[in-house]
Amino acid sequence: MNNLFITFEGGDGSGKSTQVNLLKDYLDNLNFETIKTREPGGTPSAEILRDLLTTGEVEKWTPMSEALLMWASRYEHLIQVIEPALNSGKNVICDRFYDSTYAYQGVAHNLGIDKMEKLKKIIIGDIEPDVTFVLDIDPKVGLKRSLDRPNQENRFESYNIDFHNKIRSAFLEIAKKNKNRCIVVDASLNEQEINNLIITVIDNLITDK
Ligand code: TYD
Repeated sequence: MNNLFITFEGGDGSGKSTQVNLLKDYLDNLNFETIKTREPGGTPSAEILRDLLTTGEVEKWTPMSEALLMWASRYEHLIQVIEPALNSGKNVICDRFYDSTYAYQGVAHNLGIDKMEKLKKIIIGDIEPDVTFVLDIDPKVGLKRSLDRPNQENRFESYNIDFHNKIRSAFLEIAKKNKNRCIVVDASLNEQEINNLIITVIDNLITDK
């Protein structure tokens, strides 16, 4: 099998982390070398940026600075973790990647997806995931789940419901435009049902490659 670059996207509290863990266990059990990682973050320096981005007041950053910090963290992560892992034949499962910047900063913060696409080209070039699972959930449900977790990383959850509704529509739009790699999953299903759907897709990709 050729190794896969797999990303998970979705609104806050859509259950990505659970699914990342379940898929990692599945691939480990098949003896496929796999790393799981996340954005913003994934390297010590990028985790420092994560902390700056996800904690504190919503007004702490202007949208463009927020976007540039996301790209800086992604560049570090790509060069230091993702590319080396892919080049050494490992699968990479990443909790969020550039689609999150398109949805959160490009659409919800109104910077424009076109601007974010230009930055993508400049900063990380042509790399794309082999497959992206978009976990779709009603933001009211997702935000409740997210805020029920004891956690300091609540800066994005503090934006109003309109912001989160825009993010949901943006992810669905991105998935529609990128049918070759994006699969929308109903995140209101239970964990095991979602995992089964994901594994079916991954099994097909493994046999196709
Ligand atoms: P994450 O830990 O995935 O949040 P959650 O578990 O609540 O879904 O991501 C942290 C926050 O960072 C999340 O609210 C979305 C935001 N974010 C962006 O705004 N732009 C980005 O490019 C990325 C990667 C994340």
